[in-house]
Amino acid sequence: MTAFVREVCLAAMRYFDGDARRIQHFVKVLQYATLIAEGEALPADEEEVLQVAAVLHDIGIPNSEKKYGCADGRYQQIEGVPVARELLAGLGADDTLIERVCHMIGLHHSYSKIGDDVLLRMLVEADMLVNAYEEEVPKESLAHFATNIVRTAKGHALFSVIYGV
Ligand SMILES: [Fe+2]
Repeated sequence: MTAFVREVCLAAMRYFDGDARRIQHFVKVLQYATLIAEGEALPADEEEVLQVAAVLHDIGIPNSEKKYGCADGRYQQIEGVPVARELLAGLGADDTLIERVCHMIGLHHSYSKIGDDVLLRMLVEADMLVNAYEEEVPKESLAHFATNIVRTAKGHALFSVIYGV
């Protein structure tokens, strides 16, 4: 993990302000995303973009809950982008990284829009590896996800060894 990713982690932990459940969630997504990235031999600079997105992907939840009373995917995608942009700009991130991460945050619940975005797909795979356990996603739904959404070899291996799908 680079020094910048560590800084983003600490900033996100401060932003979640003692919400241990949300903090534990992104730490786990970060680790799965890293396993997938390294399994796919992602270049280091791309891995860093993925890791920053993994840390910040749910950063829209607190504002979503405040404004709409829920953490629905469509709301947190919208609310997450400006929060991530401000947080990353405050840490001195360059515009390219900010835009790529914000693009991923804005689509991480929109599976039909993943297309050829390799990093976004890795993020979505890592997020589901965590949500499957945290939200007790039924095995049939996981099997459907593994078949239709997961494309990386490491993602398939993780779904197979952890959830048997
Ligand atoms: Fe998530």
